[in-house]
Amino acid sequence: MLENIRKRGTQTRALTLVVWHRLRQDGVRNLLRRGVEKLPAWRTRGQIRSTFDQEFGTDTDGVVPLWKLQIESPYREQGVRYQASAPDFIRAAIESLPIRPAEFTYVDIGSGKGRTLLVASEYPFRRVIGVEFSSELNAVATENIRRYRSPKRQCDDVSSVCADAANWEFPAENTIFFMYNPFGDAVLRRVLGNLRTSLTRHERDIYIIYSHPMFAHLLDDTDFLQRVDVPVEGAIYWHASQSPTPL
Ligand SMILES: C[S@@+](CC[C@H](N)C(=O)[O-])C[C@H]1O[C@@H](n2cnc3c(N)ncnc32)[C@H](O)[C@@H]1O
Repeated sequence: MLENIRKRGTQTRALTLVVWHRLRQDGVRNLLRRGVEKLPAWRTRGQIRSTFDQEFGTDTDGVVPLWKLQIESPYREQGVRYQASAPDFIRAAIESLPIRPAEFTYVDIGSGKGRTLLVASEYPFRRVIGVEFSSELNAVATENIRRYRSPKRQCDDVSSVCADAANWEFPAENTIFFMYNPFGDAVLRRVLGNLRTSLTRHERDIYIIYSHPMFAHLLDDTDFLQRVDVPVEGAIYWHASQSPTPL
């Protein structure tokens, strides 16, 4: 430990000497300018492009805090920052479901830059839809959908809509919902309430893949969803049109 402290002291003294030397040589203004020029390099250092983005020329990486974005929603504070799901997890979750994709629509609630939409398009879903309340992230998702070319692609009807999940009207068809912990409990309660109302109007089969299920108890407590025991991380729920529990 003493050795570490001594090393750090030596490094600090060396840095001070370099700065002092440059200061005398270049002056304060030039030294500051050099520092500012180097900033972009410091900011991008350590950011590794995922193999997914490298392979498909897409932009789905990174963590985007919501305070950096213009978002018109009363539920903005409940939103969770953008971060993409791992492709292998998305595939494992979809493949764990006992369904024929051709009979289902896939909807990512809080879809961000749209990575799960691209991966979901590898399956023959009827259509694939992303719902994202940041117009900036939605624009990136739309561009990603345009760019994405994969020999594995089996669904061509892929779109991203800019909408608040709290008010979005669900499609009246069999649906796989994907949620990567997109928002807090107040929004999730609203979404579940809307889904229940929608199901009373149009009975249909629903699965919900809830990744990083922070508020799983809200889904556990509903009278229209059943937790399914599958060997993937997260929580998966099911509502069957011939539900044993009447709505
Ligand atoms: C953790 S990211 C998940 C991104 C994507 N689903 C994935 O798995 O790759 C959560 C996303 O939900 C979005 N979000 C949060 N609250 C929302 C709301 N009320 N309506 C729509 N999107 C929301 C955020 O902007 C963010 O892009």
